[in-house]
Amino acid sequence: MRLKRSKGRRSISRAHESRRRRRQDVTTEAGRRSTARAIVLVPVLQTGGAGREGKRFGNQSVRGASLHSPEDRLTEAVGLAEAIDLEVVAKLIVPVARPQPATLFGSGKVEELKELVAREEAGLVVIDHAVSPIQQRNLERAWNTKVLDRTGLILEIFGKRARTREGRLQVELAHLTYQKSRLVRTWTHLERQRGGYGFLGGPGETQIETDRRLIQERIDAIRKELDTVVRTRELHRSGRRRVPYPLVAIVGYTNAGKSTLFNKLTGAGVVAMDQVFATLDPTMRELRLPSGRRIILSDTVGFISDLPTTLVAAFRATLEEVVEANLILHVRDISHPEAQAQREDVESVLAELGIDANQPDGRILEVWNKIDLVPPERLEELQHASRRAPHAPLLVSATEAIGLDELLQAIDRELGRADEELTLTVPATAGGMLAWLHENAQVLSQETLDSGEIICHVRIAREKRGRLFSRLHKYGLSITARAAS
Ligand code: GTP
Repeated sequence: MRLKRSKGRRSISRAHESRRRRRQDVTTEAGRRSTARAIVLVPVLQTGGAGREGKRFGNQSVRGASLHSPEDRLTEAVGLAEAIDLEVVAKLIVPVARPQPATLFGSGKVEELKELVAREEAGLVVIDHAVSPIQQRNLERAWNTKVLDRTGLILEIFGKRARTREGRLQVELAHLTYQKSRLVRTWTHLERQRGGYGFLGGPGETQIETDRRLIQERIDAIRKELDTVVRTRELHRSGRRRVPYPLVAIVGYTNAGKSTLFNKLTGAGVVAMDQVFATLDPTMRELRLPSGRRIILSDTVGFISDLPTTLVAAFRATLEEVVEANLILHVRDISHPEAQAQREDVESVLAELGIDANQPDGRILEVWNKIDLVPPERLEELQHASRRAPHAPLLVSATEAIGLDELLQAIDRELGRADEELTLTVPATAGGMLAWLHENAQVLSQETLDSGEIICHVRIAREKRGRLFSRLHKYGLSITARAAS
């Protein structure tokens, strides 16, 4: 077993210490060990290909291959734990030669970990893997602590980050479905509320006897409410379509810098934190590009590796805007050692949404972020690689505001591919038409004839053409000349 002790109790910073005290105040009141002190375990299954890929445990499966190294999985899992304010007192990579149906780990390992849990006074063990309900119950008994698996952990984060009504409902639905799957014959009643909004409580405090029927009733009620919420949102969205600005969606791996970039580009106050999942529900802002083109920029929740299948629906609901987007900005932390694996993760989720990153005419533009963290020689390599790529990725630093003008120009250029250049003759009496053109198109040149007529040379986006034609019709005008740009 490789044991990586993170900052011990004595060496933790003062801020950390006071946060820990605050948490302990809450928990000691309840007369229990602090659940905020957590141990993070990354089991590495040694069972060959089948064990690593799509291996099923209980009724949960793990999506996709773990391309990431165990060390990187550990870093990500610690990041996820810290995102819900846990104090990670120990983190370990645990090789598992043969996964045990009852306890996942072998009995020797369970004993060893029991000692660690006691020594660290940990109130929670996070296992970065799917753990069956039986395994969870047995481990909790063996270690006398709470156990949270990867799904439970992600649900906690979703629960904390969901801001909109729909987001919250989707999370609650995923949470209840997860709970329902945890009701096994030997454990017909929930010992306590789990995941989402309550594992920090515990036995004795929240002994809610929730049975399957009650959970199902709540699930049905949420589904109904979701239907209404989704319908209302559809209405809003079709409202937005009537103001047909192209939609540009920012996607990317968790912590890649999406929110920071979104904020820099829009000046909006979306939370950007050094923790995963700072955003769950898509956040949208209007933005004007250098050409005057207006767009709607949408920030989305971060992708993570091996998203448990039970959470895919909740996650996808947050990505609906991406499917509709005219352009997708794939923000990558290019300074990250696992940048390539992260890219593959994101692209495979996009593929599930029907978006193929490898289409030459694709709507994905890569943004290589955090170049300020890249050493100069590597930066040069990246610049070369970017120039060679078909859709030249943009090299930026969101925090240092490097490359942002070039990025805006590139967005303009990409969206401009579908533009058309037209020449129109507008009579002096059609002032409204002229104003509309200035508002909705890029007026490249304008010449007033002696007759008072105005010759306008404009560039107009594809999605605006329908509205242009109906306006021309209204004024009894026609196009004088057109040329594809
Ligand atoms: P999620 O919402 O969790 O998916 O994260 P995100 O992709 O929105 O990342 P976020 O913008 O919250 O940034 C994560 C961390 O990276 C923050 O600490 C940022 O300050 C930092 N960061 C973002 N861009 C840059 C950059 O260009 N350079 C450096 N050095 N740090 C950056």
